[in-house]
Amino acid sequence: MSAPLLQTRDLQLAFGAVVVADHIDFTLEEGERLAVIGQNGAGKTTFINICTGLIRPQAGQVFFEGREVTQLSPRQIALRGMVRSFQLPQLFVEHTVRDCIRIAAAGKKGGLGIWTSLADAVPASAVDHVLDMVGLSARADELSGALPEGQRKLLDIAMALVMRPRLLILDEPTSGVSSDEKHALMGTIMAALDEQKITAIFVEHDVDIVSQYSTRVAAWIAGRVAADGTPEQVLADPEIRKNVIGE
Ligand SMILES: Nc1ncnc2c1ncn2[C@@H]1O[C@H](COP(=O)(O)OP(=O)(O)OP(=O)(O)O)[C@@H](O)[C@H]1O
Ligand SMILES: [Mg+2]
Repeated sequence: MSAPLLQTRDLQLAFGAVVVADHIDFTLEEGERLAVIGQNGAGKTTFINICTGLIRPQAGQVFFEGREVTQLSPRQIALRGMVRSFQLPQLFVEHTVRDCIRIAAAGKKGGLGIWTSLADAVPASAVDHVLDMVGLSARADELSGALPEGQRKLLDIAMALVMRPRLLILDEPTSGVSSDEKHALMGTIMAALDEQKITAIFVEHDVDIVSQYSTRVAAWIAGRVAADGTPEQVLADPEIRKNVIGE
């Protein structure tokens, strides 16, 4: 049997007296669409930060495709195929949409040589394809900083997709987007993930979005995984309804 795509063993981290990772043993298999839910401050972003090398746990280990990555840098981890987006999109706001994608892709290739222009660094077809997948072709030559929030989110995701990840971790892809736009945004993201056969974890507060787009839900309470199962199981769990969904 092959190793899980992502696995953590007994992750522990506290900021002072606040425990943000409380012995987290977690496994993700290829092909899953995992929604991570939990109230503000439960430790969802911290978990992503630990898995992607942005912060180190005080104890425990992270494995990607069976190989330990706990001590690797975010860049080394991204090059292995675990790529994340941020709660607030991290764009190059003074560059065009197209150049943002080129910069992200060039990063994967190890940066630009002194004789290579940005336009030559990445095949135009690869950039066009990613723009097309997220529906941003018509805005390719506009400054990324001028995009409305929903499209900034899509560009951030396009910058992750051009790195051809095996696992994409999306930290609140629909936050800051109006409820009407959320479904269209998730539909676009999911279609791109399906096309590229990318496994995904997404943090989400909206229960409708969680139940519609996930195959599995993990609920965080105070740094621990309090429930983990199908969307039907977890969203019906009384503890989760009371302490996470807030009913
Ligand atoms: N670098 C840090 N130093 C100290 N405390 C931190 C640090 N990063 C996060 N925290 C604290 O750790 C806890 C968990 O934060 P985290 O960002 O992981 O929560 P979250 O579940 O992603 O919440 P949200 O839904 O608001 O994004 C919070 O109490 C937060 O204030
Ligand atoms: Mg967060």
